[in-house]
Amino acid sequence: MERILIVGGAGYIGSHVQKQLLDEGFHVIVYDDLSSGDIINVLPGADFVKASILDKSALKDVMSSGIDAVIHLAAKKAVGESMINPSLYAENNISGSLNILNAMVENNVKNIVFSSSAAVYGMPQYCPIDENHPISPINYYGYTKFAIEENMNWFSQLGKLNYAALRYFNAVGYDASGAIRGKERNPQNLLPIIMEVATGKREKLSIFGNDYDTPDGTCIRDYIHVSDLAKAHSLALKYLMNKKQSLTVNLGTGMGTSVKEIVDATEKIIGKKLNYDFAPRRPGDPAKLTANAHLAQKLLNWSPDYTCIEDIIQTVWNLEL
Ligand code: UFG
Repeated sequence: MERILIVGGAGYIGSHVQKQLLDEGFHVIVYDDLSSGDIINVLPGADFVKASILDKSALKDVMSSGIDAVIHLAAKKAVGESMINPSLYAENNISGSLNILNAMVENNVKNIVFSSSAAVYGMPQYCPIDENHPISPINYYGYTKFAIEENMNWFSQLGKLNYAALRYFNAVGYDASGAIRGKERNPQNLLPIIMEVATGKREKLSIFGNDYDTPDGTCIRDYIHVSDLAKAHSLALKYLMNKKQSLTVNLGTGMGTSVKEIVDATEKIIGKKLNYDFAPRRPGDPAKLTANAHLAQKLLNWSPDYTCIEDIIQTVWNLEL
């Protein structure tokens, strides 16, 4: 069975990718420095290497052990922090990723699935966003993702490797079977913050802006279940190994849900009111961001199983029960 290296495999999305591949019978090697990932997310059956992507010698060791494909999800991902401390993002997201590409080329590893982001598009010029939308990131985090896409594109044109760049929209949810229980430390995203409010760990949620040009005035996003993302990684892996061609696709449901709708749905699921207030808009937030993911459907035969936001939120709440 193929040996798949999951870099950043102990993180939130990486652990779900790990589960998907283990369930399908792949040999999985998780490579993670545990700086934000969690050892409890390394699932039974997976091998584990604790090392950083800045450690070229550790990368060389693992790449020379016979790897058929790499899935790379190791990155810093706090948008606000990337604007205050760009060097941290340059080092981890750009240098670290280049280390991975170089180690792959040196060891003749030909396939990489890369965790990219809708952040590469910047402010939407139209919605839903397809892959032809202009690339114009408005934060350094988004730039780091695009920088690696461009490098993979060069490496691919030069015949060194094939890549799948997966541009995630808003990843949410947890594995429905409860196999993954590691929560993110210091979460920055909406749903984990709401869960902290629901469980009393945080006093209240501030909704950033209620004067947007949307039906209820709050921002609309495309929330995609992490298990659907994981499934797309596996399909992308098989596409690379079978077709020996690169691809870049959006991953989202195409449906928009507002912050207020998320709050209302959560209140229904947990059976109590959430403490929240309305705060000023957060700089850089577009009113609406949704995906056109037809290309992923066409090339990968991928479509999300989760299309109901309540079902998605329930999988997060299950972790608290
Ligand atoms: N929000 C609040 N209050 C909070 C946190 C978030 O109102 O305390 C709102 C935001 O303003 C936004 C929505 O909830 O309207 C979702 O915010 P997140 O921070 O969870 O996610 P973003 O849409 O800002 O960012 C996500 C990913 C980024 C990625 C970006 C663009 O987390 O990695 O989508 O694709 F860059």
